[in-house]
Amino acid sequence: SGIPVITLDGPGGVGKGTLSRLLARDLGWHLLDSGAIYRTLALAAQRAGLSADKAVALSELARTLPLSFRGGADETHVLLAGELVDAEIRSPEISALTSQIAAIPAVRAALLQRQRDFRQAPGLVADGRDMGTVVFPNAPLKVFLTARAEERGKRRLNQLMEQGISASLATVVAEIAERDARDQQRSVAPLRPAPDARLLDTSEQSVSDTYRVLQSWVQSAL
Ligand code: C5P
Repeated sequence: SGIPVITLDGPGGVGKGTLSRLLARDLGWHLLDSGAIYRTLALAAQRAGLSADKAVALSELARTLPLSFRGGADETHVLLAGELVDAEIRSPEISALTSQIAAIPAVRAALLQRQRDFRQAPGLVADGRDMGTVVFPNAPLKVFLTARAEERGKRRLNQLMEQGISASLATVVAEIAERDARDQQRSVAPLRPAPDARLLDTSEQSVSDTYRVLQSWVQSAL
């Protein structure tokens, strides 16, 4: 496909979501929040009483998941069978279940084409863990974001507080570290930069600093 894609991969709490939204909005491109797909699958699995060891049933659920997105890059909503699930899929419990389910190869295979279908004119900004390595290996610009775990924990804690969810920093940092380890160590599509990805450490940078760097890369890549 000649339709351009910019991939933003990296661990939890690194700011991929915010940066992807900004970029998609400013470019007038489509946005893929691939984490939201995995999270919604985890919610559906939880509701169906399926634990993370039910690989066959989970991959069947992934194939038939009645998931849709509503809204543009400014404000995207996630719906499961028509029900808004934005808040519910961000809970710490669903976050943990998501990374367990996301480690199942058949689940990832079942979701692959659904993600590729987001590649529509005039372009796509794709946010996730394996956007540059597996889902869009021929993307013209791949970015891999990193930040120290402590810093990512603070950012994630702020997001949770904005949603009215209270937690301690230590708990959030521990949850992120556990999820990162699982995402990095899984056998299929582990979290790692594509060989041709540009690395950006955002530990000491504000969102606007990081966004400026991203914009300069976009300009030279497109
Ligand atoms: O990005 P987000 O924090 O919403 O992702 C939630 C979880 O979904 C990740 O921890 C990871 O286990 C899984 N995920 C994935 N591949 C992606 C996006 C998310 O495995 N492309």
